[in-house]
Amino acid sequence: MSADPRLLATPYRSHTCGDLRLADDGITAKLSGWVHRRRDYGKLIFIDLRDRHGITQVVIDAGDAPEAHEIATRVRSEFVIAVEGIVAERGEGMDNAKLATGAVELQVRSIRILNEAKTPPFYINDPEATIDETLRLRYRYLDIRREAMQRRLMLRSRLVQSIREVHHANGFIEVETPNLIKSTPEGARDFIVPSRLQPGTVYALPQSPQQLKQLLMVAGIDRYFQIARCFRDEDLRGDRQPEFTQLDLEMSFVDEDTVRDFIEMMVIQVTRATVPDRPIRQIPFPVFEYDDAIERYGSDKPDLRFAMELFDLAPVLKAADGTPDSGFRVFDETLASGGRVKGITAPGMGGATRREIDDLTETAKRFGARGLVNLSVQAGGELHGPIAKFLAPATQALVRERAGAADGDLILIVADGSDKTNDVLGRLRVELGGRLGLADPNELAYCWVHHFPMYQWDAEHTRWDATHNPFSGVVPEDEVLLTTTSGDLGVRDPGDPAGRAKAMQYDVALNGWELGGGSVRIWDPVLLARSFGLQGYSKEQMHERFGAILEAFEYGAPPHGGIALGVDRWAALLSYQTNIREVMAFPKTQSGSDLMLEAPSAPDAEQFEELGLKFVGLPPKA
Ligand code: AMO
Repeated sequence: MSADPRLLATPYRSHTCGDLRLADDGITAKLSGWVHRRRDYGKLIFIDLRDRHGITQVVIDAGDAPEAHEIATRVRSEFVIAVEGIVAERGEGMDNAKLATGAVELQVRSIRILNEAKTPPFYINDPEATIDETLRLRYRYLDIRREAMQRRLMLRSRLVQSIREVHHANGFIEVETPNLIKSTPEGARDFIVPSRLQPGTVYALPQSPQQLKQLLMVAGIDRYFQIARCFRDEDLRGDRQPEFTQLDLEMSFVDEDTVRDFIEMMVIQVTRATVPDRPIRQIPFPVFEYDDAIERYGSDKPDLRFAMELFDLAPVLKAADGTPDSGFRVFDETLASGGRVKGITAPGMGGATRREIDDLTETAKRFGARGLVNLSVQAGGELHGPIAKFLAPATQALVRERAGAADGDLILIVADGSDKTNDVLGRLRVELGGRLGLADPNELAYCWVHHFPMYQWDAEHTRWDATHNPFSGVVPEDEVLLTTTSGDLGVRDPGDPAGRAKAMQYDVALNGWELGGGSVRIWDPVLLARSFGLQGYSKEQMHERFGAILEAFEYGAPPHGGIALGVDRWAALLSYQTNIREVMAFPKTQSGSDLMLEAPSAPDAEQFEELGLKFVGLPPKA
């Protein structure tokens, strides 16, 4: 919602550059802004004056206002000026339908240069210009003057405003938690801040407010939310920054359905308020078991805007007695050793050139595959490809049927261990979906993935690592698997029944990105200690790392659960972006630098001395 224009009036302006309409014809108006474009026709000078709200054409006529005209001859792009004049209907046929103010112009009486500007390092007034990103980040304050950036920041602001509204309307309290805390592990490295008052000690910046929000539940804050800044020292990608924002929330006296129902309702309302024109593909959101998502899409964040599901060829490559018998040795050996033979069908790609196939094979190898089998479906159903000759006609027919492939399609097959096969095909699916333009870019396909495995065996450290966060609860039917473990006694082995337990963990995915993740927590201190034990923490380590929460749970913890959604990712997806930098005012580069402020930078010697710190350098890499 935009503010009442009258509220934006200041001594420098009676209106913004987006306000004036035909109804204002004849009034006196004062505008201030940046010179977007200037056209000099001698006696007449036209200036497109720009602020965040729009652009208004102002005209300076040497006959009417000679002093103003003289000043206008000195004005250049991006100067900051203030003008005063009379609003007038534009001449016959001079309307600009592209501008909201395009029916009028301001006939200037006086003009003031408020500030001059150097020639900017890139065009601010050309929406089509491709600008080197380093330059954009170095001069971010100029980049943000561009309309596209302004639109995205405004969308983000609307998103956050709507998040707050929906939470307040549903009985949530916004609570701020501190940024100088103790390590809250979320799987990344901590950023640490040395303490001056207690030399030799450090704070950690929060990877998330996880422990604090759980403590708020013990404190009786029932329904909490926060637009929380989080910090993670990890390798950066398009959807990852070292400093980012979460919508973090937690609720008491809930089970998984209560939390998911609220989140789904909230996500729908926020989406509709932020981008009313974009369709949500399916409501209620589809819900996948984790295993099922991996099996069908090769991903725990499936892009559901297109089908192209993975298919399993094992059933059609085996003889009646179950022994692999496809005729192709790689398939048979893979199946015999417990691996998988699965594939996807690329519609209409049967005519792919040799080069295209080589490129796909290289892509699959980059994703970790040893190779990629390709079979194109010829008119009449025959399969063509390097291994087609090994497959009997009956097997070929079964493969084609299993693949759901029609004439002119391309079948792509990977044979490998289960995780590798699913992962490679999952990524190939996304790659092909993009290349073939299978997804409707406008659609928003939210879905749930839940019941993740609780733990995965870490052979190197002989412990069961939590697959998500270490506080996630186990689904009620698997609780028994945790009661029979002796993890709390320090006994950890890969055959522990707890390894089969599923967590009350749920993720929201959107168009192939993980948007958020959360869980119903373990709220029983005995079970929590047992889970920490399995994860390899000794009693001392548990106390050292999670002392506050373990102690708090002895004072009456309610059942509770929550989630965190990435606000940057959400804003990026809602504004059609593939990099979250595009929706952050001042993001970092891939190597974690702020090019504008030149951070990180060498520390001040005095600061270091005060903290008792000295760089000793890193040991040479082995
Ligand atoms: P998780 O670690 O899954 O869960 O994070 C939640 C969401 O935060 C976003 N996110 C990021 N966004 C940008 N850059 C990053 N480096 C980054 N890392 C994470 C993602 C992700 O889905 N405490 C739990 C939540 C809970 O259980 O309630 C947590 O932080 O969108």
